[in-house]
Amino acid sequence: MSWFILLLTIALVCGSAPVFADDDERYLNCMKSFDCGNIKGAGYPFSGSDRPDYCGYPGFELGCSNQDPEITIMRSTYKLLGINNQSRTLNVSRSDYTENLCPALLSNTSSNPKLLNYTSDHAEVTLYYGCPSPSAPALSSQFTCNINDTVMEGNFMTVNFSALGITDPSLISYLTTCNNSVKFPARQSAIVPILVSLNASQFLEAINQGFELEWSAND
Ligand SMILES: *[C@@H]1O[C@H](CO)[C@@H](O)[C@H](O)[C@H]1NC(C)=O
Ligand SMILES: *[C@@H]1O[C@H](CO)[C@@H](O)[C@H](O)[C@H]1NC(C)=O
Ligand SMILES: *[C@@H]1O[C@H](CO)[C@@H](O)[C@H](O)[C@H]1NC(C)=O
Ligand SMILES: *[C@@H]1O[C@H](CO)[C@@H](O)[C@H](O)[C@H]1NC(C)=O
Ligand SMILES: *[C@@H]1O[C@H](CO)[C@@H](O)[C@H](O)[C@H]1NC(C)=O
Ligand SMILES: *[C@@H]1O[C@H](CO)[C@@H](O)[C@H](O)[C@H]1NC(C)=O
Ligand SMILES: *[C@@H]1O[C@H](CO)[C@@H](O)[C@H](O)[C@H]1NC(C)=O
Ligand SMILES: *[C@@H]1O[C@H](CO)[C@@H](O)[C@H](O)[C@H]1NC(C)=O
Repeated sequence: MSWFILLLTIALVCGSAPVFADDDERYLNCMKSFDCGNIKGAGYPFSGSDRPDYCGYPGFELGCSNQDPEITIMRSTYKLLGINNQSRTLNVSRSDYTENLCPALLSNTSSNPKLLNYTSDHAEVTLYYGCPSPSAPALSSQFTCNINDTVMEGNFMTVNFSALGITDPSLISYLTTCNNSVKFPARQSAIVPILVSLNASQFLEAINQGFELEWSAND
């Protein structure tokens, strides 16, 4: 009888020891926080830096490039400006629009609503590239780009005014004649005050304040 118990005990200890060590290591690794630049102490659902991927939720991997925290959403890189884990929100801005409104490659902003949703402080902004006439329609403003040593005139920025309760069919129909457009979100509270005097430098400043995204409580 006592033989049997002894053997069983040994088998149990041998079988489970490596599992305990693995769990311990994973637990200790996940106690570490993500720290980079102005982002300190980020934990679950985020991973990145000292926090291995298994410490976070897929899609919440953070990067750190020259002390600039960043997150990749739908294959585009964003600067990570802030995290608030009480309200479960983060502030991000597009890293290809930090210097000017003229990235070499144009791409729309897309988010994955299964992971992150916009908060209520949200306005949809559209930049139009290669528009036929140099005369700016009302409710929009012109900007010039120097891309690949080519000066591009006929670029306009405007906001989706219908979302703000203003509709202007002539503006909409003019802008459909432009060669390209890029949509991206901005903070409504940063955009609305500058609508009267919409110009490129103010606009750039406003979009670099980033926009807010929230993640869901049950993840
Ligand atoms: C999130 O909350 C935990 C526990 O309150 C805290 O230790 C951690 O630093 C917080 N992370 C961020 C990014 O605020
Ligand atoms: C995002 O930025 C806004 C405006 O600057 C601020 O009120 C808010 O607290 C920030 N949120 C986070 C999560 O950093
Ligand atoms: C600028 O040049 C790059 C590399 O040659 C090219 O991929 C890109 O499409 C060009 N951008 C524009 C707006 O022509
Ligand atoms: C962005 O999306 C709009 C329509 O949703 C499309 O017309 C435009 O070509 C897209 N821009 C780019 C750069 O893909
Ligand atoms: C729009 O694209 C066409 C075809 O590529 C080009 O000929 C025209 O110059 C572009 N218009 C502007 C204003 O850039
Ligand atoms: C503009 O906003 C309205 C109302 O939110 C929406 O129905 C429409 O699709 C938006 N237009 C574009 C081009 O995003
Ligand atoms: C943009 O507007 C701001 C504030 O009204 C002004 O100080 C600045 O000179 C304007 N910039 C241009 C290029 O018009
Ligand atoms: C985003 O909103 C949609 C619609 O309300 C909801 O189904 C989805 O779960 C939300 N996603 C997150 C991450 O909260």
